[in-house]
Amino acid sequence: MAYQNIIVETHGKVGLVTLNRPQALNALNEALITEMNDALAGFESNPDVGCTIITGSEKAFAAGADVKEMAEKTYVASYLGKFLDGWTRISETRKPVIAAVSGFCLGGGLELAMMCDIIIASETARFALPEITLGIMPGAGGTQRLPRFIGKAKAMDLILTGRMMDAAEAERSGLVARVVAPEKLLDEALAAAAKIASYSQPIVMMAKETVNRAQETSLAEGARFERRLFLSMFATEDQKEGMKAFIAKRKPDFRNR
Ligand code: HXC
Repeated sequence: MAYQNIIVETHGKVGLVTLNRPQALNALNEALITEMNDALAGFESNPDVGCTIITGSEKAFAAGADVKEMAEKTYVASYLGKFLDGWTRISETRKPVIAAVSGFCLGGGLELAMMCDIIIASETARFALPEITLGIMPGAGGTQRLPRFIGKAKAMDLILTGRMMDAAEAERSGLVARVVAPEKLLDEALAAAAKIASYSQPIVMMAKETVNRAQETSLAEGARFERRLFLSMFATEDQKEGMKAFIAKRKPDFRNR
């Protein structure tokens, strides 16, 4: 697929998707989402890629869903046409995805970032779910994921007022994992992604799956799930290699087996 709305690169074992609709502050339209899903599917099935980064421009990660594309939508056509069907596919990826966020991260853009596994933000990042100002509410998981990140009080504040939160507040609230200087954003994300990609792929994928269970199940069920997967790791060659390498004081050579 030739991409019009994203730029796709690989850096060693890291896949990089750059949202690229500068004329619309990377507003997300159906074409962009289709291209992004295609690129992500490519990285998922590529054994040489262990982690993916999604980023935008310095000015905007993404300023939301494309309002111009949405403005004339009708209920029945949206229902029959399965509008938003592909928008949450990123939450089904099994390999880790890092969102490297600079500038505006609004509406569907924030929902996209929250479907990634780690959000690294530049000091210039601004987060909001401003849908309420357009006569709608978040529709790609925002009302459900934001309270899980930052709690009900702040989520209600943001969703009902539509106000923007700066990077410092986002870090304080638990929305973002790290805040870095704007010029360091991509390097920091690439370094984190390269580190993740250097580990055993199946083990990393199982760790991601297990942490995500914590969002969806009770503590007892989650702990049981963790125990099962933890024990299964002793059936892998990479567990043997990782521990032998530690004891021999050498670097492990993970083979994803
Ligand atoms: C379509 C958008 C856009 C958007 C910006 N643009 N955001 N186009 N959809 N979400 C376009 C503008 O129309 C303009 O193009 C160009 O990008 C530059 O934007 P400006 O507004 O001129 O820039 P600035 O003055 O710097 O203001 C930046 C901004 C503002 C504060 C981010 O653009 C803004 O408020 N955007 C809308 C943010 C928003 O409401 N997002 C939520 C969308 S709803 P032209 O050609 O006109 O000059 C949503 C629902 C998700 O996300 C639920 C389902 C997934």
